[in-house]
Amino acid sequence: MREQLLAAEKIAPLEWRDAALYVLDQRVLPHSQVWVCCDSAAAVAEAIRQMLVRGAPAIGICAAYGFVLAARARLAAGGDWQSALQEDYQLLAASRPTAVNLRWALNLMQERLQRVRADEDPLAALESEALGIHQSDREANLVMAQLGAELIRKHQGSAQNLMTHCNAGALATGGFGTALGVLRAAHLEGLVERVYVDETRPWLQGSRLTAWELSEDGIPVTLIADSAAAHLMKERGVSWVIVGADRITANGDVVNKIGTYQLAINAMHHGVRFMVVAPSSTIDMATETGDDVELEERSASELLEVAGQRVAAQVSVYNPVFDVTPADLVDAIVTEKGVIERPDADKMTKLMSRRRLH
Ligand code: MRU
Repeated sequence: MREQLLAAEKIAPLEWRDAALYVLDQRVLPHSQVWVCCDSAAAVAEAIRQMLVRGAPAIGICAAYGFVLAARARLAAGGDWQSALQEDYQLLAASRPTAVNLRWALNLMQERLQRVRADEDPLAALESEALGIHQSDREANLVMAQLGAELIRKHQGSAQNLMTHCNAGALATGGFGTALGVLRAAHLEGLVERVYVDETRPWLQGSRLTAWELSEDGIPVTLIADSAAAHLMKERGVSWVIVGADRITANGDVVNKIGTYQLAINAMHHGVRFMVVAPSSTIDMATETGDDVELEERSASELLEVAGQRVAAQVSVYNPVFDVTPADLVDAIVTEKGVIERPDADKMTKLMSRRRLH
């Protein structure tokens, strides 16, 4: 299975090449494939803020490479470069507030910097740390894909309709995805009749990115409007909603793309199971509940305009781009450390004390 899954790794949202970070501009996918070179921490922070690169694990990995670029520039400038680097840390950390992977990756980089020995090249050490963060996310995707597919099989061993939201695929991670990794493994095991994906207004991660990734893999995919989800569940029989996460708090609450919460409520009403797939880097044990998380709000133009064309009436706009799904609406959380069903604070603590399964 591992080899088959690795063969499904076709799309990558970022590449570290010639000591620079190249990101695939996700704003113009799937119709254009434009790579943008980021050669400074400021350029990386801007690419994250403007969503050229997005998805919690992918932005964490980008921030790690951004830290390497910052260290290179500060070291070249001389003086107390390690103190000056803290400004870049802050700049990168502030680029998007909700996904905890961003701060998690930056903290690993910071810790590595503090452990650099006198006989070591600090840049080489930091670069190797960033490459390690990238590679370990890829490995985590492989483990989660298999665990999630096993869970689907446990409840129903035949082909079934599944649903996903936003994009938790290769474009959002260092590998082939969290939720989409599970869908890819389930497809290889003959467990997928069809995947329904909603548009994920207003940024259209579902219709532009997920629909593209799945169709490129030959997985049967059908697009629905966000507002069709409850009707779909009632009419067509969906067995699981499978999503990623931007942050999971200590009690098992799930912060994810706006619309996840209403899908979980719909799923509960229709007896559809709800699975969240996320690496342990997305778990924030320092934050007690989802209510304590800063939820990003984005520009009004995302709702007032479509493809740069004004469509809405001139009114005020509320555009939160993440919401909180309470733990009691979640059937399973799948991580590279294992699976917990019906999450709560106690199970989360036990999960986080386990070793990674790779
Ligand atoms: O605003 P985005 O596109 O960065 O939001 C992404 C999501 O909400 C994803 O579902 C989440 O990051 C999981 S990605 C593996």
